[in-house]
Amino acid sequence: MATLDLGVLVSGTGTNLQAILDAIALGRLDARVRVVVSNKPGAGGLARAEAARVPARVLPHVGFPDRPSFDRALVVLLRDAGVSWVVLAGFMRLLTPTFLDAFPRRVLNIHPSLLPAFPGVDAQAQALAYGVRVTGCTVHLVDAGTDTGPILAQAAVPVLPGDTRDALAARVLRREHELLVSVLAWIAEGRLELTEVAGRARAVFHGVDAAVGVLGPSEAPP
Ligand code: GRF
Repeated sequence: MATLDLGVLVSGTGTNLQAILDAIALGRLDARVRVVVSNKPGAGGLARAEAARVPARVLPHVGFPDRPSFDRALVVLLRDAGVSWVVLAGFMRLLTPTFLDAFPRRVLNIHPSLLPAFPGVDAQAQALAYGVRVTGCTVHLVDAGTDTGPILAQAAVPVLPGDTRDALAARVLRREHELLVSVLAWIAEGRLELTEVAGRARAVFHGVDAAVGVLGPSEAPP
């Protein structure tokens, strides 16, 4: 067990980053956020980092000629900050092997659907359009595909009659915050083991159930 040295990458509001910062402050997560990096100036996540006295950096991707050169600069920034695990918390850029090879099997993403359903952008709208009754969120390791890496944990969220895209997204987001913090805490506790099943990487957490049901602690009947 060791304190996780996290680098958190954001592009937007940063509520998942906030969940991590709050869990650390409450002693629920043995981690330090070494640096927060946004590819978008003015992203809400930057202000959240500053409020928590965490170093916040802007690295605009538009300033780079191609993806690998942006990724190389990102690697230098994270390494200089002492990062060993990278969390994509609403980071809207695809990462190339240039980046992933620098942090092998140590890059996590949170995605707002039960993968492999609804990868890519606006998974909540995709779920609503398809008409599924249950959706949710997934924390997975990042590989070179889009939302294809080994699944670490999932939580289910009901789709309710009359849901709008935003109502569903808000319900999923609350569950994202819980799931992301849980997964990071399990990693910090040394519970993660990576194995291979049928040629595909498979994550196992020892001593916890990494599938969280449709009813969470705040919604379960007494
Ligand atoms: C979340 O829904 C996350 O799953 C997706 O982007 C959103 C980021 O939200 N990848 P926030 O910036 O953490 O509030």
